[in-house]
Amino acid sequence: LTRGRLIGIGIGPGAPGRITLEAVEVIRKADVICTPRSENKEESIAYEIIKRWCTGKRIVAMPYSMAPDHKAREKSWQDHAQTIASSCSEGELVAFVTLGDPGLYSTFAYVAKLVRGIDSQIPVAIVPGVTSVSACAAAIGQSLAQAEETLTIQPCSQVLAKRGVWWRNFDCVVVMKIGRKLPDLVKHLHRLSLLEHTTLVTRAGFGTGTITSGSDLLTCDAQNGYLATMFVRAGVNNETGAKK
Ligand SMILES: C[S@@+](CC[C@H](N)C(=O)[O-])C[C@H]1O[C@@H](n2cnc3c(N)ncnc32)[C@H](O)[C@@H]1O
Repeated sequence: LTRGRLIGIGIGPGAPGRITLEAVEVIRKADVICTPRSENKEESIAYEIIKRWCTGKRIVAMPYSMAPDHKAREKSWQDHAQTIASSCSEGELVAFVTLGDPGLYSTFAYVAKLVRGIDSQIPVAIVPGVTSVSACAAAIGQSLAQAEETLTIQPCSQVLAKRGVWWRNFDCVVVMKIGRKLPDLVKHLHRLSLLEHTTLVTRAGFGTGTITSGSDLLTCDAQNGYLATMFVRAGVNNETGAKK
């Protein structure tokens, strides 16, 4: 590894055992560890996972706003990007840790773009991580796709906005970023008679996870939408799915 660069590190979905050897190696070598956390949370979940390897490191918490105001959100990320760019130009190895993989619905891509916008010479690299999708599929003992099956990953907002029978085109639909929309999502799937093909996995890898399927979803706690991933297997090819 050369010095003076930014590396986005995927640290897996929660269980410390699911961080890769490569991620630990880079964290150990890094001068600065950037840990994103939502402004309304005291702790960064990512930092909790990696702190055992961070003794003596400079930790830079990067709070981000969840406010609907785009301008406020952009301003805070622009400031964080400036902090990262300054460290890199001083020759420091900056590790930006992210839950799961940095390439899947992570703020890393956004931050990296801002940093390159400040200084296009800063080298940027990615250390991939185990995604929450893989961890959740493992928690319910299912494969994501096999043979000729098709798989799609969608944010909850897109699933709620779509009309028609689009899910039939995929053997496995994975829904992420559910949050407070869980009751709406469950109602939507209920209306489409899809609940019998649906499983919700929360907090996979944290040891406090839950698995809820079928009509039990109608009565599950709305809080279960956070750190939750849903699988809908109603496609044409899979053995348990509904037929067209
Ligand atoms: C902002 S995205 C980050 C995804 C992450 N980069 C990855 O590769 O898994 C956050 C979403 O990931 C999913 N997620 C993250 N950790 C999870 C976990 N431990 N169990 C279930 N879903 C999780 C949820 O759908 C959550 O809304």
